[in-house]
Amino acid sequence: MKGIILAGGAGSRLYPLTQVASKQLQPVYDKPMVYYPLSTLIEGGVREICLISTPHDLPRFRSLLGDGKRWGISIEYFEQARPEGIAQAFRIAAGFIGADSVTLILGDNIFYGGDTFQRAFTGFSTGSTIFGYQVTDPERYGVVEFDAAGKAISIEEKPERPRSNYAVPGLYLYDNEVVAIAAALKPSARGELEITDVNLEYLRRGQLHVHRLGRGFAWLDAGTSSSLHDASAYVQTIEKRQGVKVGCPEEAAYRRGFLSLAQLEALVTTLPKCEYRDYLAGVIQEDRRLEGMR
Ligand code: TTP
Repeated sequence: MKGIILAGGAGSRLYPLTQVASKQLQPVYDKPMVYYPLSTLIEGGVREICLISTPHDLPRFRSLLGDGKRWGISIEYFEQARPEGIAQAFRIAAGFIGADSVTLILGDNIFYGGDTFQRAFTGFSTGSTIFGYQVTDPERYGVVEFDAAGKAISIEEKPERPRSNYAVPGLYLYDNEVVAIAAALKPSARGELEITDVNLEYLRRGQLHVHRLGRGFAWLDAGTSSSLHDASAYVQTIEKRQGVKVGCPEEAAYRRGFLSLAQLEALVTTLPKCEYRDYLAGVIQEDRRLEGMR
């Protein structure tokens, strides 16, 4: 399974913040926003990742994340010249996807809780798996409607009158057919290649699986000033209460087995003295202690 982080777009709703740095580089509490979707992919076991952004912002992502080697992964970079729709990602990254299946995650989507995605990645074989999450403002998103048996029967992009409260979050899994489906798409009335049209094609083929995310699961999108603030407050609350970090690629890579404890230790020595380094040092110390008890 290959992974795409889509981190372009205009970010106009975050103006003037996005005058100086792209949306996905803004801080969400104690780290850049893109660390969260990156960590979600690593936690899911995805090792080959590409990041798509604007020609203007791509160099900054490259200098922030590099080639991914320090986390035991690989990261490639591709430009999206203009924000012509989420589904354009599959055209841009067709060569990177090759003959594989692929998961796409939006760079401003933050997920927390449980191992739903890990299981979805591991168990994925054909068709498409997307998710449904209950929200109070479904009209801002793609909205999925279920029948009495819980089967998805319709998806509408930003409907004026939503048929359910289930929005489709920005994490999608597709088999390799997505490359051909995206290649054949026509732009919508608003001039974008719509991810909802990709999902509708899988629905038409009877190959769309929609997994409803439960109550204990958090999905935040940080696209407006208010939701950006909410996301920071949420992450701070969890981190202070539990003493665990959300969206920490170093820890995710270690827990996933992409880095050994010795490699994590070596990596931590390269970080400046800061709370982030102290946290990782604590993770190492605890695991060394447990090792000593074996
Ligand atoms: P949006 O939040 O819908 O769009 P935006 O980021 O351009 O923001 P605004 O509406 O405030 O101008 O996009 C959702 C995510 O998808 C976000 O991470 C940006 C990304 N995206 C692209 O990278 N390219 C695109 O063509 C589109 C439509 C979105």
